[in-house]
Amino acid sequence: MIVSPSLYSMHFDRFKEEMDALNSCVEWIHFDVMDAHFVPNLTFGPGICKTVRKNTELFLDVHLMVDDPEHYADVFAQAGADSIVFHYEVFNDIEECKRLLNKIRGMYLKAGISIKPGTSIETIKPLLPYLDIFLLMSVEPGFGGQSFMPEALDRVKELSDYRKENGLDFIIEVDGGVSDKNAHDLLSRGADALVAGSYVFNGDIRANVEKLRKCE
Ligand code: DX5
Ligand code: ZN
Repeated sequence: MIVSPSLYSMHFDRFKEEMDALNSCVEWIHFDVMDAHFVPNLTFGPGICKTVRKNTELFLDVHLMVDDPEHYADVFAQAGADSIVFHYEVFNDIEECKRLLNKIRGMYLKAGISIKPGTSIETIKPLLPYLDIFLLMSVEPGFGGQSFMPEALDRVKELSDYRKENGLDFIIEVDGGVSDKNAHDLLSRGADALVAGSYVFNGDIRANVEKLRKCE
């Protein structure tokens, strides 16, 4: 399994210490970019991303919750991202999403789509052959620390069944309210990567990640 802690929940007054802990125990780092328009909250820009990049060799997983993902894909590619995931709901259009996915891949980055809890899996199926990462939201995007929506479990299963039936190989990543209470159910239905913010940073980072791994 891939563990991708969300820096949304990092204690920035202990940046060095927490980065060291992450560097010793996880595969990815999840970087939530919010623009106060696509979601009602504001987080980090490219400067912080560059600083994170200087402090880790880990895969930097950028989740754009912004109205203009095309512009910010470039900005975060230059700031050191390894993958760029944007929201289907920004375009609500398969061809526009395909175009941006191809553009991101053209920058030699992994490319992905995310959907909110209200968007059906059926809608985005035509995109699945064109992406590397599918980021399924298990909360409404915008804030850390929300409760996991159990409907996400069936959605993971639907995605992973479709992936198998069609011989596809994208990564299924789940984001929102992930903890040791739901990790096993998510992994057993086909999730590969788990984003966890408050669960990982609340208390001892290494111990929390270890507990999550035991759910496999
Ligand atoms: C929500 C973000 C998440 C969030 C996860 O909009 O995309 O990555 O920070 O935080 P937890 O794990 O606390 O739900
Ligand atoms: Zn996220």
